[in-house]
Amino acid sequence: MAKLFQLPKGTRDILPDEQPYWMQLDQVIREITQIYGYEPLSLPIFEDTALYKRGVGEATDIVEKEMYTFSDKADNSITLRPEFTAGVVRSYIQHGMASWPTPVKLWNTGPVFRYERPQAGRFRQFHQFNAEAIGEQDPALDFEIMDMAWQLYDRLQFQNLSFQLNSIGCPDCRPGYLKVLKSYYKKYFDSICDDCRNRLDKNPLRLLDCKQDRCQPVIEKAPAIYDHLCEACAGHFNKLREYLNAADLTFTLNHCLVRGLDYYTKTVFEVWAEGVGSQNAVCGGGRYDGLVELLGGKPTPAVGFAAGLDRTVMIMQNKKQDRLKIDPSVYFACQHAEARKQAIIYVKQLRERNISCLMGLGERSFKAQFREADRRNVRYVVIIGDAELESRTVILKKMETGEQKSLNADQLIRHLDREPGF
Ligand code: HAM
Repeated sequence: MAKLFQLPKGTRDILPDEQPYWMQLDQVIREITQIYGYEPLSLPIFEDTALYKRGVGEATDIVEKEMYTFSDKADNSITLRPEFTAGVVRSYIQHGMASWPTPVKLWNTGPVFRYERPQAGRFRQFHQFNAEAIGEQDPALDFEIMDMAWQLYDRLQFQNLSFQLNSIGCPDCRPGYLKVLKSYYKKYFDSICDDCRNRLDKNPLRLLDCKQDRCQPVIEKAPAIYDHLCEACAGHFNKLREYLNAADLTFTLNHCLVRGLDYYTKTVFEVWAEGVGSQNAVCGGGRYDGLVELLGGKPTPAVGFAAGLDRTVMIMQNKKQDRLKIDPSVYFACQHAEARKQAIIYVKQLRERNISCLMGLGERSFKAQFREADRRNVRYVVIIGDAELESRTVILKKMETGEQKSLNADQLIRHLDREPGF
C-alpha cells in the first residue's frame, strides 16, 4: 500500500471551517493599519542566515535552537524567517527609507518558522501580523504601537486581556543593572536550575524569563530593572505610562518581562490572553533603538510589535461568536441532465446578482439531492423536474419552514434577488 503522508510536526492545515475567522482577522488588520497610517510591506520568506544571527542575537533561543537553516545550491546559508523585524530593518536600509517622511510606518503578515516543541498554541510554522515604526524616539510612538495592538483586540471584542509592560533600559544603564542582578543571583546559585546557572554568564537578563518552578521565588524578589534606569530611559518610561494612563489603557508593570530577542531597548510589552493553552502571549513587541545601526544603517530609533495570528484565531473560535461561515443560499435539485440545462441558466443569472448557488450533480434521486442541500445548510432548494420543464416553472422551497411555491423564471430571480441577507 502507498505510504500515507502526514503533516510535518508543528504545522497544520487551516481547513475551510476555520478560514472565515482568518478572513475576519485580515479585514480588521487592514482597517486598523489604514487608520493608524501604516503601509504594507511584503518581504521574502527567507533571508541570509547572518541577518538573523546579528539582528535577533546569537545568544537567543531563536538563533541557538529554533531556526530553519539550510544551504542553497550555491552554498549560501539561508534561514526561513523566524520573525519579521530583522527583515523589515534590512529592507528599510536597502531601500534608503531613511529619506522618507519620518517615522516610516510599515506592516506585514505571513508565516514565520521556529523549530520549537509543538504544543497547544505553539507551532513550528505560525503566522504573525507585524507592525514597525522606524525613525522616531518619542514615547508617543511607543504609545501608538501599543494602542494599535489594543485596537486589534478591541475590534475583535476580546475580553480578559492584560498588557504586561516593562522597560529594559539601554546600553548605558543596562550593564549597571546586570551587575546588580548577577550579584543578587550569586546568593541563590545552589537553588537555581542548570539553565539559569548558564544564563548567569551568557545572557543574565533571561534569568528573569525562566519557567522552572524552583527559580520562581528567586525571580519574584529579584531587583527590578525599571528601578535602575538612566535618566533618559526613566523619563521615556514615565512619559509612556502617563500616555497610557491618560488614554485609559490599563497595564501591569512586570519586571520579569524581558522578551526573547536581543534587540530591545527601553519599552517592552506583551498582551496576554486566556484560552490559548499554556502559551498566553498573543502579541509582543517593544522599542529597538540599536537595530538599524547594528545592521549597517545610521543610528535610528524604532518600535514595533507582532501579533500571533494562530493564537488569536484560537480565541476567536473559543468565543463561540456567531457562526462566521457564509452558507450557500440556493441549491438547484434537478431530475436529470435536461433539467440541469435549465438550472445552469438560472444559476448563472443568480451568481451575477451575487447570490451563492449550488447545483445537484450526477444522476441522483431528489431525495439524495435534498439530503446534500440539508447538510450544506442552504436556505432554499429550487426543484426542476419533468412537470416544471413542461410548464416552464420551478418549485421554490424554503428549507426553514418547508413552505413551497411554484414560480416562473422572472418571479424566481426577482424573489431571490429581493431576499435580505443574500
Ligand atoms: P515574539 O514575541 O517572538 O516577537 O512573537 C510575537 C507573537 O508571535 C507572540 O506573542 C505569539 O503570539 C506568536 N508566536 C511566537 N512563537 C509562536 C509559536 N511557536 N507558535 C504560535 N505563535 C507564536 C517577535 O517576533 C518580534 N519580532 C515582535 C516585534 C516586532 N518586536 C518589535 N517589532
